[in-house]
Amino acid sequence: MLRFETAGESHGECLVATLTGLPAGVPVSLEAVNRELWRRQQGYGRGGRMKIETDTADIVAGVRHSRTIGSPVAIIVRNRDWMNWTEALPVEDTDGAADKRKRVTRPRPGHADLAGVLKYNFDDARYVLERASARETTARVAVGALAKLFLGEFGIAVLSHVIQVGSALLERAAGWDEIVELSRRDEVLLNCVDAAAERRMKAVVDEAYRTGDTVGGVFEVVAHNVPPGLGSHIAWDTRLDGRLAQAIVSIQAVKGVEIGLAEEGAAAFGSAVQDTIQYHREERRFTRGANRAGGLEGGISNGQDILVRGFLKPISTLRRPLESVDLATREPALAAYERSDVAVVPAAGVIGEAMVALVLAQAFLEKFGGDSLLETKRNFAGYIEQVKNY
Ligand SMILES: Cc1cc2nc3c(=O)[nH]c(=O)nc-3n(C[C@H](O)[C@H](O)[C@H](O)COP(=O)(O)O)c2cc1C
Repeated sequence: MLRFETAGESHGECLVATLTGLPAGVPVSLEAVNRELWRRQQGYGRGGRMKIETDTADIVAGVRHSRTIGSPVAIIVRNRDWMNWTEALPVEDTDGAADKRKRVTRPRPGHADLAGVLKYNFDDARYVLERASARETTARVAVGALAKLFLGEFGIAVLSHVIQVGSALLERAAGWDEIVELSRRDEVLLNCVDAAAERRMKAVVDEAYRTGDTVGGVFEVVAHNVPPGLGSHIAWDTRLDGRLAQAIVSIQAVKGVEIGLAEEGAAAFGSAVQDTIQYHREERRFTRGANRAGGLEGGISNGQDILVRGFLKPISTLRRPLESVDLATREPALAAYERSDVAVVPAAGVIGEAMVALVLAQAFLEKFGGDSLLETKRNFAGYIEQVKNY
């Protein structure tokens, strides 16, 4: 089974990720991994930290001569900011180290700070926020890039775009070619396919900058060219919709997920929501009247694009801090402020792509297996032939 783990803290030495279960022979390009890391750092509304870091991946295991060798892949991404934190977060405790700690004793509403100190019995939220930070997603994006390269061998592509920032909405459907074009840009504003909508989104971020506030929004991940038959209806934990939902909500600040047009569907009659079925005799294939289901029925991919949306709450750290309590004195105090992003919807979309790619690669390998890419391709080709001849 394909599985991944990450380690690393926001201001620690580095982020680490391992990915186990990719077949041998998958072509790996460092340039492709680094491009994904770069995309995660973009977007209008990011804070000073992203100016310090230029994330690049060191692959230290599992890839030789530009191909996977079947063993776990291990990736390290170094934190440049670590040089400013060596004394505040040393691995070994030494005399005087306590004085150099950068304590966070006024927990920030919306962060793991308070729940974390209660749970781990800390008198300082520093260790909690170091790991709760979305810096961790750098490691997810690194292994997600490998999942994308694997899926790409089967013609499957996973990309994202932004459909809402604060109250500013994309008010039309986005075409796949437009989303591909967005992903190739070397300058990213808010990663929206519509220039007028993107200008409205930028105005919302500008307002947040002006007022010391923050904003959230909605991104959509689209998985293109996914074959029918990934995931299964047979048990709650094999259903692909549920697995994708967990993957998306696990992203920091994501509070909701939508598959297809779930919210719109909930308010409509069934006759207007379900995607009708047709049959194309010449091409000998089934077609659908629309894709409101987001490519998933009964927890199984149905061959249409998979559409998953993530709903982000506004960033929790505010330049104009909210009411909190000092952990030491229990007196009212304003929440701590640390350099922070104001809006991160495009970056969250890139993280969403990584998570969707990892879940799809996992479901793909469950169905087709294979210790080598050649074997997986043979199994896949046999199944596609079966579907064609159905
Ligand atoms: C790409 C990305 C960057 C983020 N950057 C920040 C940040 O700079 N400051 C901040 O307060 N929260 C930031 N967040 C959000 C926090 O990580 C998140 O609000 C916090 O973990 C609590 O949310 P949760 O309850 O969903 O974990 C970011 C989230 C993402 C996805």
